[in-house]
Amino acid sequence: MSFPIVRHRRLRRTGGLRSMVRETVLSADDFIYPLFVTHGKEVKEEIPSMPGVYHLSMDLLEAEIREIAALGIKSVLLFGVPDYKDAHGSSAYDPNGIVQEAIRAVKGWAPELVVVADTCLCQFTDHGHCGIVHQDKATGVAVVDNDQSLELLVRTAVSQAEAGADVIAPSNMMDGFVHAIRAGLDEAGYSDIAILSYSVKYASAFYGPFRDAAHSAPQFGDRKTYQMDPANSREALREAESDVAEGADMLMVKPALSYLDIVKTLKEQFDLPVVAYNVSAEYSMVKAAAANGWVDERSIVLEKLISMKRAGADMIITYHAKDAVRWLKGE
Ligand code: PBG
Repeated sequence: MSFPIVRHRRLRRTGGLRSMVRETVLSADDFIYPLFVTHGKEVKEEIPSMPGVYHLSMDLLEAEIREIAALGIKSVLLFGVPDYKDAHGSSAYDPNGIVQEAIRAVKGWAPELVVVADTCLCQFTDHGHCGIVHQDKATGVAVVDNDQSLELLVRTAVSQAEAGADVIAPSNMMDGFVHAIRAGLDEAGYSDIAILSYSVKYASAFYGPFRDAAHSAPQFGDRKTYQMDPANSREALREAESDVAEGADMLMVKPALSYLDIVKTLKEQFDLPVVAYNVSAEYSMVKAAAANGWVDERSIVLEKLISMKRAGADMIITYHAKDAVRWLKGE
């Protein structure tokens, strides 16, 4: 009788052994929890395509924030649903805009919570694009103007820092946005405020439910002239390289699940913290399957989150954060 030369199963024999050789662990420290804040009173409106995720008015936000902090989650990412939209997205940089108000309130209730502000114009423009749109003189085609958009993005970032944001997270994929925002923040006296760049953001169908949630779908065309082609990975390196050169403090890959190769590459090639955004459709698909009894939600969610960490994510932005923390505590 010949025996196997190597027996991998020895270290899998008991739960104790398995936990000792486990290479990756998840903890509450890993998560950033996204929130959608809206005007009005006593608004808690579930987003139909994202069960368990709500539009919350400011008066109901406090209880939510206290729950998040009590669970041990360290950070939230704030999105605003404004009460007015225009061509220039002025509600994005209104000092009394919904995001600015929410930042001030959250820092008042939970000063230690790390508040990340999504810095973009698409929720605030009537055309739903992430920047200023102009008609190309030669062709008559509507284009998103890079440099004009940068100015407004800088104003948005500075107003968010003024309100008390700890981290500015520009997501509009204009060229030079990290450099412009860094300069704007420094000039305004916010040189200590970090930039988490949505460095590698793909033009993805996985944002569908978010656009319902944030009312931010483009009213014409798509985002393919500024967000990346899902077919490309070397381009992701160029995007990340320029953000590093421009002074980004953290790099994001978005979406997460279909792009774990990119997460791994960024982790290997750069020495900045890497953040994976587990986006809306990645959440909704699990929720829908679980509601049908087709998958076990808890196991699936913890498996996908650990996979993101294993691929190299230092942090994960996820709508599953509250559930995941409860499950990790064994609840
Ligand atoms: C804003 C923004 C989007 C998401 C985060 N910030 C939408 C988009 O680019 O269309 C998507 C998040 C998600 O799907 O969960 N630009």
